[in-house]
Amino acid sequence: MILVTGGAGFIGGNFVLDWLADLDNEGIINLDKLTYAGNLETLESLRGDPRHIFVHGDIGDKELVSKLLKEYQPRAIVNFAAESHVDRSIHGPAEFIATNIVGTFNLLESAREYWSGLDDSARRAFRFHHVSTDEVYGSLSAGDPAFTETSTFEPNSPYSASKAASDHLVRAWFHTYGFPVVTTNCSNNYGPYHFPEKLIPLVILNAINRKPLPIYGDGQQIRDWLYVGDHCSAIREVLAKGALGETYNIGGWNEKTNMDVVKTICSILDELKPRSDGKSYSEQITFVKDRPGHDRRYAIDASKVEKKLGWRPAETFDTGIRKTVQWYLDNPNWIDGVVSGAYRDWLSKQYK
Ligand code: NAD
Ligand code: DAU
Repeated sequence: MILVTGGAGFIGGNFVLDWLADLDNEGIINLDKLTYAGNLETLESLRGDPRHIFVHGDIGDKELVSKLLKEYQPRAIVNFAAESHVDRSIHGPAEFIATNIVGTFNLLESAREYWSGLDDSARRAFRFHHVSTDEVYGSLSAGDPAFTETSTFEPNSPYSASKAASDHLVRAWFHTYGFPVVTTNCSNNYGPYHFPEKLIPLVILNAINRKPLPIYGDGQQIRDWLYVGDHCSAIREVLAKGALGETYNIGGWNEKTNMDVVKTICSILDELKPRSDGKSYSEQITFVKDRPGHDRRYAIDASKVEKKLGWRPAETFDTGIRKTVQWYLDNPNWIDGVVSGAYRDWLSKQYK
């Protein structure tokens, strides 16, 4: 077995589905707190599959995690669980400190205790894979080189500061205790099952619901977009072949301004689901107040993972974004499930 945390969220859910689609892979214990971002409907196709054991719980609950480790004896832990939305971290950082820092600390301690008690060969085989973000490196200016694994940590938001802290804990557990960790720092993901508080799914859903498409500030901020299936394949490679204690940057080689991303979505929708009045969805673009402390540019240099492990993304932005828009058009039931009262409260707080 492997233990996946946060496997009812966007990337964790995609990872669980992709992993179990390969019948040669072992089963998964999926530990998720089911916050607003966790959604069991993402895992609906696994209902009744004995290779998927879902456990509702918190990574910070040492008693529960220790019990799961003892019972299932996983050979690896992949830690996706986190509070992940920058804007929410600005409105209320406490949950980010609790899960991303204290939760990761407790998970590391439970896992270290379990690992210490394994026999020699199981100890050598064990891996703790920490899933992190490029935001720990801070913000780039236009001409700066992309982030490498040796770029300085300069986190700017409560979210990125909490992720940077967790990365430091993971690093220290390797250096101090010899605990077998690998860390991946990835750029912006997009794809199926993405919660519609984030730019790409929010824009797709607002567009088809004839709502404004909110662009923060001047819309010239740059992100490096990676299709979620590619992130999952990178994690599988690093988990299988990554060197202990190392970090690997994962990115799509796809830098885009937010405005370009939104215009691309509008033109795909113009083609796939034209507005009844014949106008373009881009008419719905609206400039709104900027995010406080908004990072200007992220860019990932993913050459280490390519050179050392042979991983490169399979999707370009053009292929990935088209698939993604089509997925949202084809899956109204999943969308109806997540667009709850709590989601509507968030939208009115953020875009009032
Ligand atoms: P998400 O918000 O969609 O999902 C997070 C999941 O973690 C949810 O299912 C939630 O219920 C669960 N969770 C939250 N707190 C928990 C706790 N205390 N115990 C157990 N489960 C808990 O996030 P995501 O976008 O899928 O991101 C997954 C991971 O990847 C995060 O660590 C994030 O920092 C990292 N990451 C995300 C991106 C991105 O573009 N989304 C990019 C790079 C790295
Ligand atoms: O870089 C990796 C990170 O990418 C992950 O670590 C985070 O978990 C993930 O949420 C994402 O963070 P961003 O802040 O970059 O993603 P978000 O989708 O929130 O915003 C993308 C860009 O779009 C950002 O510059 C802010 C802007 N934006 C966002 C929203 C929600 C808008 O202009 N309007 C919006 O309504």
